[in-house]
Order: sequence, then C-alpha cells, then structure tokens
Amino acid sequence: MFDLDRFVADCRSALAVDSSHKHVREVVARAVSDPASVLKSLGEPTCAGLNTLHRSSDLTVLNIVWAPKMTVIPHNHAMWAVIGIYTGREDNIFWRRLPGNAGKLEAAGAKALCERDAEPLGHNIIHSVTNPIPRLTGAIHVYGGDFFNPTHRSEWDPETLLEGPFNPERAIRQFEEANAILANRQ
Ligand SMILES: [Fe+2]
Repeated sequence: MFDLDRFVADCRSALAVDSSHKHVREVVARAVSDPASVLKSLGEPTCAGLNTLHRSSDLTVLNIVWAPKMTVIPHNHAMWAVIGIYTGREDNIFWRRLPGNAGKLEAAGAKALCERDAEPLGHNIIHSVTNPIPRLTGAIHVYGGDFFNPTHRSEWDPETLLEGPFNPERAIRQFEEANAILANRQ
C-alpha cells in the first residue's frame, strides 16, 4: 500500500545519498509500479488539481491531476523534478531557448508518459504538458526544492513563445478553468 509518510521518508533518504533526482526517481518508479495502490491511498481523482502532499525548502511532492485534454503552457521549474504517472497519460513537449533570439523557444523533443512511467527532468528543463485522453490523468510530481517559492522561474506565451515571469496565480487558475469546462460537459 502506498504510504505518503513512507514515500516522503524514502525521498529524504534518497536525497541524503545524492542531491540530484537520481535516487528519487527510483523511489517514484517504485511507487507508480503499483498504480492501484497509489489510487487507493490518494483516492480516485474526481477533478483537476494541483494538490500539495509535502512542501519544504528542498523537497516538494504534488499530486497533480490533469483535466481531459488539458494543456499547460511552456514553463521551467528552476529545480529538478520527477514525474510518476499513476493513472492516465501525459504528453510532454520539451523546449529550448532559441540561440540568437533572447527569450524565444523552439521545440526540442517530446516524450509520451504512460501509467507506471517515472520520468526525471533536469534542473534547466523547459516543458509543456498535455493530457491527450478524455479522462483525468493523475501523477505524483516530486521537485528538488520549494515548488511554490522558486527563483528565476519563467513561462512562455503559448502564442508567441516569448518568455515572461512565472505567474503562480495563473497556474492555479488554469486548473479552476479546466474544472469549469469539465463541469459544463457533465
Ligand atoms: Fe512542469
């Protein structure tokens, strides 16, 4: 059975060995290798949300639930992360800064994440995320810092791909907007 206290303790033990995502990825992979257990512990997702399971200066654990077909705009975290999918799917587009064009991006790659996948994201990663399926996707996101108090964090306008400061209120609001769309569909 997935146990949150045990999970956070295991992440802390992994961090004590190595401050990168290396061993934390193994902890996340082990957790999502039994998605039914995570679902039983966290509960079957009923709406989109960015739910904080643990927050400290060097470690944040979120339970992120994406609405059907929801997309988040390109952003960075300015800290490493590990994404573990316990239900549904996530498509990630990875971006890089366009040389010679300050603040603008170009697409650099993509990765399809499925249930049981645990994907590490490096400190400088810029990504956008889409839930491509018509049901909720649930993922445990672990970050190597305080997700809600970052330094030098950016997001990029989805139309112009130009850089601007990360707006945490907008990030929260997009989950509320996704839920409003979801409620109208039902
Ligand atoms: Fe992200």
